[in-house]
Amino acid sequence: MSDIKYSFGLWTVGWPAADPFGTATRPDLDPAESIRKLADLGAWGFTFHDNDVFPFGTEGAERQKHIDAVKKASQETGLVCEMVTTNTFTHPIFKDGAFTSNNRTVRRYGLRKVLTNVDLAAEMGASTFVMWGGREGTEYDNSKDLHAAHARYAEGIDTVASYIKEKGYDLRIALEPKPNEPRGDIFLPSIGHAIALIDTLDHGDIVGLNPETGHEQMAGLNYTHGLALALYAGKLFHIDLNGQHGPKYDQDLVFGHGDLLSAFFTVDMLENGFPNGGPRYEGPRHFDYKPSRTEHLDGVWESAKANMETYDLLAAKAKAYRDDAEVQKAFEHAGIFELGQPTLAEGESFDDFLADRSAYEDVDIDAVAERDYGLVRLHQLALRHLIG
Ligand code: GCO
Ligand code: MN
Ligand code: MN
Ligand code: MN
Repeated sequence: MSDIKYSFGLWTVGWPAADPFGTATRPDLDPAESIRKLADLGAWGFTFHDNDVFPFGTEGAERQKHIDAVKKASQETGLVCEMVTTNTFTHPIFKDGAFTSNNRTVRRYGLRKVLTNVDLAAEMGASTFVMWGGREGTEYDNSKDLHAAHARYAEGIDTVASYIKEKGYDLRIALEPKPNEPRGDIFLPSIGHAIALIDTLDHGDIVGLNPETGHEQMAGLNYTHGLALALYAGKLFHIDLNGQHGPKYDQDLVFGHGDLLSAFFTVDMLENGFPNGGPRYEGPRHFDYKPSRTEHLDGVWESAKANMETYDLLAAKAKAYRDDAEVQKAFEHAGIFELGQPTLAEGESFDDFLADRSAYEDVDIDAVAERDYGLVRLHQLALRHLIG
């Protein structure tokens, strides 16, 4: 396998596959065993929710015993704990949200649970603290004061960020957008919404994003475009890769098992960067998928491998695509490098611009409109690299 840094949530392979219509089809896995198994398969890192490692409500020595078992497996295998996240969605106390519950007691409890878990993330040496607000939302628009809900959400995130700073932890927060499921409508439904809220925070400098492939695609949005915006805004702190077939329930398929062409362009951007340069994502290639309910334990590990294999295959194809001289010529023909040039000249004033007849009065509109960009041919070149 390649030397790409792959990591997995312990809740992914560890999912016993209970869904709203049926009971579990697989046994619970021991988190430490999952770490050993993932290391054997060639993964680089792992991530977890507090309650993937110890049951909700476990405190003191009992809690530490569970944590130590995971630490031991991590040390013995060298698998890196790169991200920790908090479960603020399973227990009924969070049925109306954690940071945005109408019940202030729940909000204070949720915030305490998260802060305790920030300490754990630091203890584990993680660099990212993900916040997926799965229960932050509503089924009905009159369920909440929607302004106050956003204010409480921002207050909660800012409190966690300022706690991280005060403790001096080397941690950044990554918000994970999702449009719906389990709530009818979840707050911060897309990458763009999350960036807008981060902009209002006092401690937004250490708050970024953890976009998930399927979550954007559930909203009919383009994941690769979303990652590009997050990179542009300096906010792509982490990623959750998986597969999804368009707008429907959250499928959490193996990466590439949903929209394969989209996965190809995601990998191309992550591995090869933008054609004109620019910011790159340097973090782990993290998978947040669910082994399908039809699979038993062999299928769990097969599907874990499939994520890494698919990414490796796409990375090799994407490299060949970029290295192909014909593709580069097609980029040139399409104007892709031209898009890297600023529209205004350096230091050009409004007066200069308005006086430039070549920018407006003398433009041969019909001739310019006739330009052919060759974009279908370029796309077919990509497709040929992908499946040819
Ligand atoms: C989901 C979410 C979760 C989060 C996880 C990390 O739709 O189930 O993607 O898997 O990624 O809770 O915070
Ligand atoms: Mn998902
Ligand atoms: Mn996720
Ligand atoms: Mn998910």
